[in-house]
This record gives sequence, C-alpha cells and structure tokens, in this order.
Amino acid sequence: MAVCKGPDCTMGGSDAVFAAAKAQAPGNCEVYRGGCFGLCHLGPNVVLREDAGGKRDPFSREDFELMKTPGETYYWRMDPAKVKRVLERHVAHGERQTDLVGDPAKEDEF
Ligand code: FES
Repeated sequence: MAVCKGPDCTMGGSDAVFAAAKAQAPGNCEVYRGGCFGLCHLGPNVVLREDAGGKRDPFSREDFELMKTPGETYYWRMDPAKVKRVLERHVAHGERQTDLVGDPAKEDEF
C-alpha cells in the first residue's frame, strides 16, 4: 500500500492517512510512502497493489504513476477512517471498496 507524499496531499492530510495505515496494517501489508501520482487535486491518494515478490525500487515508476495493472486499486480522497476500512475490508478480506475507488476520468462528476 502506497500513500502519496507530495506537498499538496501532505497539506491535505496524507500524513494522517499514512500514520493510520501504518498503525493498522496487518503483517501481510507493507505500507510505504509513494511519491506523487500527479493526482494531488484528488488526494490524499492510496494505491494498493499485490506484492509481485520483487525487491522494491525506491525510485520505481509505480511510486509516481498508476500502472493500471491487474490487482492495482486506486483509492482517492482518503482519510484515516477510509484507509482503515480499506485495510479491514480489502486487504483483510479481498473486498474492494468500490465507493472509495478513484477514477481521474470522473473527477468532474464530484
Ligand atoms: S501528492 Fe498526492 S498525488 Fe501528488
């Protein structure tokens, strides 16, 4: 689970989202700060991906853009309560929280 850490989302609460995620993540979920996904106006943003098993590169593209790979879920407009729900439902039980899933193409609908 990556929580973005650019200045805009940090001002918008991503530090609290990250702290909540770190405090509540189960042992099978690594929580780290991603970079900026270029979606600051929709943040704080959380990207959840299944572990591919490789060593994480601290400058990987995955930390700066949505890859749209199978198993990737983009959650937008996150707060500590929402990330808690993602951890409890999606990470623990595989239940994608569709009402929290972001879609940059639909940002004008909100
Ligand atoms: S800092 Fe969150 S997407 Fe840019």
